[in-house]
Amino acid sequence: MRRIRIPFAGREVEFVDREAALRQLVELAEGGTWWPLVVYGPEGCGKTALLRQAFEFFRGLGYSAVYVSPLEEEAERLVVTEDLKGIARRALGEALKAAVHPAAAALAEAAIAIVVRALRKGKERVALLADDVFQAVGVDRAELLVKTMLNLIEYPPARYEKIVVLVASSEGVTRERVGRHRWAEIRAMWNMPRDGFAQLYEQLPGPKPPLDEAWRWTGGNPETLERLYRVGWNVDDAVVARVRDVEAFVDRLTPLQRAVLGDAIGDVDVLVARLREAEKREEKEELGALIDRLVELNLIVYMHERRQYLWLDVPPPERDPELGIGRYYAWQTPLHREAVRKALEKTATE
Ligand SMILES: Nc1ncnc2c1ncn2[C@@H]1O[C@H](COP(=O)(O)OP(=O)(O)OP(=O)(O)O)[C@@H](O)[C@H]1O
Ligand SMILES: [Mg+2]
Repeated sequence: MRRIRIPFAGREVEFVDREAALRQLVELAEGGTWWPLVVYGPEGCGKTALLRQAFEFFRGLGYSAVYVSPLEEEAERLVVTEDLKGIARRALGEALKAAVHPAAAALAEAAIAIVVRALRKGKERVALLADDVFQAVGVDRAELLVKTMLNLIEYPPARYEKIVVLVASSEGVTRERVGRHRWAEIRAMWNMPRDGFAQLYEQLPGPKPPLDEAWRWTGGNPETLERLYRVGWNVDDAVVARVRDVEAFVDRLTPLQRAVLGDAIGDVDVLVARLREAEKREEKEELGALIDRLVELNLIVYMHERRQYLWLDVPPPERDPELGIGRYYAWQTPLHREAVRKALEKTATE
């Protein structure tokens, strides 16, 4: 499979690793998806990179493919294979003209309209790769969008041989909403495994800290690696931007929430353990609210069981306290955990 070239840390690099995910794409291409496959992963873990590589993969197999990423720069928001160019131009024009919603939402709809037209035109193998579309349409309409995609698979406008629908999102909030219906198959994606991360690290020019150290701060998250590189590997500078939002959140915590959050720096599974132990209803509510807020703020992510079929690419280990990976939840990266630690420290002394 041809590896695409993608921007990383102000240069172009080759798409590296994700071997397991690429093998899973081969399965998807052979069998098609029975439901839209919705992939959740931490911010900056490489979802967009993978969808772009997937586009290239399906194109190479002769699929008619549509890649939509409404929040990206204009030139890259909608990409289609050569055979769909005419269809895309018309569908996009109409969607933008009829748009009652912001243009980003119209783009998500245009992508679906392109697939419908492609099928009507007799395209037999079609792939729709949709990035950050939930953010574009908003939480309330995310479910509906998934249902529309499911209808495409179940009640297509014309017969087809294979259809693949792959959606990526980092929004912890929509996961629950989308997950409560049987309209999608949900899989999780994690930061890069150590070997793959090392390949990315190799492509960064020096001077740089030893690989081990980069791994311990990023937990394999490529975007965090990029950010550390940009600030000259100064961890304090890298967390500073985050700490400000986190402080506002930490300031509003109850004493119980604050104490449990402090313990969760050392072991993130404390969150669930304390929630389960809580006997009083108010305590349960407080701790439930704490977990929900941490998810909403994209500080922690809910972790599926580590069974391969629930993940795209390799699942993370069952637990890795050093990186902040717990059984039920994980800090998105060690840097996120550090931002919370700093905010707790700062608000304690003021
Ligand atoms: N497998 C990979 N090979 C090379 N570079 C990668 C790979 N995965 C991610 N990157 C690079 O790391 C950076 C972050 O990745 P990407 O934007 O794909 O993450 P994301 O999960 O889509 O983030 P967000 O949640 O913000 O949308 C990008 O510069 C991307 O090009
Ligand atoms: Mg992305």
